[in-house]
Amino acid sequence: MEQSTERLKPATGPHLVGRREDLVKAKRSFRTLEGRDVLVLSHQGTFYAMDYHCYHAGGPLQNGDIEELAGKLCIVCPKHKYKICLADGEGLYKAPSSQASESTSGWLSKGIKQRVHTVTETDGDVYVTLSRVSGFIDSDYFQGEKGKIAREKFEAEEAEKKSKAGKC
Ligand code: FES
Repeated sequence: MEQSTERLKPATGPHLVGRREDLVKAKRSFRTLEGRDVLVLSHQGTFYAMDYHCYHAGGPLQNGDIEELAGKLCIVCPKHKYKICLADGEGLYKAPSSQASESTSGWLSKGIKQRVHTVTETDGDVYVTLSRVSGFIDSDYFQGEKGKIAREKFEAEEAEKKSKAGKC
């Protein structure tokens, strides 16, 4: 995957993203912070924030189900069902039976794939501070203008594949 040349700018956050009660009610909220598309999630009383576009092909994570896998809460991307840990953006995949172990319930790590951001709360106001972890994380690719073009390209390729499959 080609790396984005767009870099995170110096920190200006934390950014106010809403009132606790509103975000809990909404469960999933989309925000653009410093030009970055971010998903703010409320799940079982805890807030999480991560890049809005899935690291795999840029699919929107907003309507992904939450599942517990190997003891970790993960969002399941609605597009191709990739699993992403809410806490740290780790990608999980089902181990081939030869590598499966009881401790991981058959799930293995791909490493950190999705950039996650820090959520804090003061007097019922919820803030997101963008991650400043240096180095490229796969979900960076789908941010900004270049990311938009990449997402549209993936969409077009998938539509073409579906159209060809329909003709067979
Ligand atoms: S775009 Fe998320 S799994 Fe493919």
